[in-house]
Order: sequence, then structure tokens, then C-alpha cells
Amino acid sequence: MVLLSHVLVASWVRDSTDLASLVPAAQEFGLPLLPPSKAKNASFAQGANFAITGATALDTEFFEKRGLGKSVWNSGSLFTQIQWLRDLKPSFCNSTQECKDFFAKSLFVVGELAGNDYNAPLFAGKDLREAYNLIPHVVQGISDGVEQLIAEGAKDLIVPGVMPSGCFPVYLSMYVDPKEGYGPRSGCLKRFNTFSWVHNAMLKRALEKLRAKHPGVRIVYGDYFTPVIQFLLQPEKFGFHKQPPRACCGAPGKGPYNFNLTAKCGEPGATPCADPKTHWSWDGIHLTEAAYGHIAKGWLHGEFADQPIIQSS
Ligand SMILES: *[C@@H]1O[C@H](CO)[C@@H](O)[C@H](O)[C@H]1NC(C)=O
Ligand SMILES: *[C@@H]1O[C@H](CO)[C@@H](O)[C@H](O)[C@H]1NC(C)=O
Ligand SMILES: *[C@@H]1O[C@H](CO)[C@@H](O)[C@H](O)[C@H]1NC(C)=O
Repeated sequence: MVLLSHVLVASWVRDSTDLASLVPAAQEFGLPLLPPSKAKNASFAQGANFAITGATALDTEFFEKRGLGKSVWNSGSLFTQIQWLRDLKPSFCNSTQECKDFFAKSLFVVGELAGNDYNAPLFAGKDLREAYNLIPHVVQGISDGVEQLIAEGAKDLIVPGVMPSGCFPVYLSMYVDPKEGYGPRSGCLKRFNTFSWVHNAMLKRALEKLRAKHPGVRIVYGDYFTPVIQFLLQPEKFGFHKQPPRACCGAPGKGPYNFNLTAKCGEPGATPCADPKTHWSWDGIHLTEAAYGHIAKGWLHGEFADQPIIQSS
């Protein structure tokens, strides 16, 4: 059993719903919920959350060079997060050896990253081919970030892939395909799920290379794809309603997925469903706490990871 006394998180977060994925992990390790790294007067003795709203794997300059700067709306990338981690080191440790020891006892949750990188072309209305062109760069960016964390002393990392984007009300609303373009049982957009699958396959291959290069380091692949497909095909297993993709919080009557770009959750015209526990999609973009909870358990115990985070030895 690996004893991890700190959880250091580099994650993309648009709002607090994403943070819910970390609640079961922190609780299972007997840890407090982690303060945001920029919180004033917070205790970072047991870790910190480096999430940035809308964070991309790649720096903004990458998108600017491709004329996609306008559709990136974050204040930093994975590399900003890693710099913030370096800046915060005096709160964790003071000497090189102390820092090595501290990071060796920490779990690094690196992502999910990449979703927002691909949103740069997709939300600008570009073809999926443009997003395909980004995959090698995005995967290299994540891989570089993981290596920077290893250089800081990380020994336990979980690197999640992306979710099946074709199942999400936001993409289902923006891209309408002919009938044969949808999964007959899931109702998801097949070509978007294929895209997500390809990213994940390339990421897993990159992680294999990193494992070979850094034998003393444990790198777990966190699967977001399989659980979301299961939420749709076997909803009863998780306590979810059996229904096509549908946001819990959205604009009733204004779109087939309870989602409308002009009345998103939190905006006038949108209301939450009565029991979010029965839905896996919170606002058409993010998952519900219940869904994140099932996924976090699957990462910890191995059902949704290529090896469980918690290992007995
Ligand atoms: C800062 O933290 C200390 C110790 O927890 C507490 O006593 C103090 O009130 C806090 N100060 C502010 C400004 O929150
Ligand atoms: C590092 O040193 C500073 C100054 O002595 C101290 O305030 C801080 O608590 C130390 N950090 C740790 C993690 O021991
Ligand atoms: C979204 O809401 C607007 C304003 O109510 C409406 O005009 C539009 O048709 C809705 N979109 C869909 C897909 O229903």
C-alpha cells in the first residue's frame, strides 16, 4: 500500500463541479480538501490545487500562431500550473532533500488536460480535422509536463485521458450529423468519440514511453472515456436515469439535450434538475458530483485506470 500524504493537483477546472472529482480521492486518503494554490493564508502542508479555469495543455502562444488565440480564454496552461507549483515550494519544503521527500510522498493528478486545447478550434467552428492536427502537439505537451513534474521529484502520477466528447450536450448541440452519425444505443456523436479515442490512444502510448524512461516512477492512466459510456449504456449500475445524453442543469424546452448555448446553467432561463444524483451530465459540459465520485473510485481501485492508485504490496 502506497501511503500518500499529499495530493498535488494540476487540473483544468472551469468551475467547482470539476473539483468534485477530487473529493473522494482526498477523503479516501484521510486528507482535507485542498486549498487553491493562490489562496491567502491557507495551509498547504497536505497539498494544493493548481487548477486554472479553462486551462490548456499548451501555452497560449501555440494557439496564437495558428490564429486560434481568441478562442483560448484561460489565464494559463499546464506549464503555468507547474510554475505555480515551483513558486509554492517553500510552503512544502525548504531544502532540496526535503522537497524530494515531500514530492515522493505526493500524488500528482495531472489533468484532465487537452479538452480545452481541442475546444480552441471546435468552439471557433472549425472542422474536426483541425483538432486532429493538434493531437500530437497536445500529447507532447502533457508528456513534457509530466517529465517536468518527475524532475521535481514526483513518483506517483495519474494522467487522465479525455471524455467521449460526442456524448456531451455542448457538442451534440453545436454539431448536428445525419442519423447514421450517432451511436444507436448511446445517442453520442460517433466521429467526436472516435476523435477522443484517438487522443487517448496516443496519450497512452506516450505514457508507455515515459514509464520505460522513468522506471522508479508510477504513472497511472486515468480513464474518463469508459465510465461516461457506461453511464449511458448501464445507467442503473450508477443510480442514473436511463435516457439519452441530457444536462441536469439547463434550459428546459430549449433544445433536445436540455442544453442551449444562449441559456447555459447559471444564466437566465436555465434551472437545475430536481435530483442531480440521477444525472451524469451536470451542465452539458461538466459532470455531476455523483459521476465524478464513481470515476474517482474507479481510479483509486482500478476499475477505470490501467492500474489502481491504491495498491497493496
Ligand atoms: C490566518 O490563519 C490563522 C491560523 O489558522 C488564523 O488564526 C487567522 O485568523 C487567519 N487570518 C486571516 C486573515 O484569515
Ligand atoms: C521554510 O522556512 C521558512 C523560514 O524559516 C519557514 O517559515 C517555513 O515554515 C519553512 N517551511 C517548511 C515546509 O518547513
Ligand atoms: C436556444 O434558445 C434560443 C432562445 O430561446 C432559441 O431561439 C433556440 O432555438 C434554442 N436552440 C435550440 C437548439 O433549441
